[in-house]
Amino acid sequence: MNTTKSFIRGTGAYLPQRVLSNDDLAQMVDTSDQWIRDRTGIQQRHIAAEGELTSDLAVASAKEALKNSGLVPADVDLIVLATTTPDQTFPATATAVQSKLGITGGAAFDVQAVCSGFLFALATADSMLRQGLFSTALVIGAETFTRILDWSDRSTCVLFGDGSGAAVLQAAPGAENEGVIAHHIRTDGAKSDLLYVDGGVSSTGTIGHVRMQGNQVFRHAVTNISSAIETVLEQTGYTIADVDWFVPHQANQRILSGVAKRLGLDDEKVVSTVSHHGNTSAASIPLALHTAISDGRIKKGDLVLSEAMGGGFSWGASLFRL
Ligand SMILES: CC(C)(COP(=O)(O)OP(=O)(O)OC[C@H]1O[C@@H](n2cnc3c(N)ncnc32)[C@H](O)[C@@H]1OP(=O)(O)O)[C@@H](O)C(=O)NCCC(=O)NCCS
Repeated sequence: MNTTKSFIRGTGAYLPQRVLSNDDLAQMVDTSDQWIRDRTGIQQRHIAAEGELTSDLAVASAKEALKNSGLVPADVDLIVLATTTPDQTFPATATAVQSKLGITGGAAFDVQAVCSGFLFALATADSMLRQGLFSTALVIGAETFTRILDWSDRSTCVLFGDGSGAAVLQAAPGAENEGVIAHHIRTDGAKSDLLYVDGGVSSTGTIGHVRMQGNQVFRHAVTNISSAIETVLEQTGYTIADVDWFVPHQANQRILSGVAKRLGLDDEKVVSTVSHHGNTSAASIPLALHTAISDGRIKKGDLVLSEAMGGGFSWGASLFRL
């Protein structure tokens, strides 16, 4: 039976021009290319130029996503932007994107779930489209994450980068196994002290820097992500063998390989782009998704499983068909 579903019509991505290599970082802190590659799989990250804002990154990826969807900004009536690094405390960066794209109607707002942000934004937009509140959404993950790094802390500054990815989601009649199929999103505020920023508007009045107990985060990540994936599969009746592509949050090659191994996923089904851009927080899933669609790996009709884990803790999994 057909109901209103949401469908991914196209994707886009943007990475700032400037590249910072592991060797560059080794000039700044006591680290090495070998250590970073062995522990994380990261080879380089992109850094936004001075004056280049999160909304600029978002707009670049959104324009490409619209082009690949065969749509124009005037078709969009909803923008859900996942970011931890907004242009300003308010208004929402999504409204800057709305204005820069010349969109005058509909609604635009931000979602804050750190590295899980894109999946939270996707679940939010999908629910609103299926309810008939809007017809065409830009779902964007965009970060200038390197602006909240402590460049003297080698345990965090080597991990992250800037970037943006976007997907156009559109409501249309569809069957249960078409379009966006299921989500499972969760948070656990009691673990917030393991990954956080030591500043904020109402606490210190400063922006602050990322602080993390990396080994603790690693341990929780594999467990939480695996459990979210199992829940999504149970809810929908699919098995891991049905999944054509696994598009995980690109935090660390060891986490994404650990999850894939635990679930029994073939390595060839795992989309990994972390080596090229590091952990771009909310941007990483749409960046990886766009890469694998653009290079022809993910095709129309393929079943895609995505997952993420981030500060909060926040985590989740989504299942969708292209
Ligand atoms: C960050 C991470 C790579 C560190 O690897 P690890 O094996 O857990 O390393 P540890 O934190 O236990 O530190 C081991 C040693 O490496 C050192 N180290 C940390 N960062 C380093 C770096 N960039 N270069 C060289 N040495 C480093 C530590 O100081 C420590 O030294 P010590 O033994 O002399 O005290 C790993 O914990 C990880 O990937 N965690 C998940 C982080 C993540 O993805 N967060 C975002 C989730 S959205």
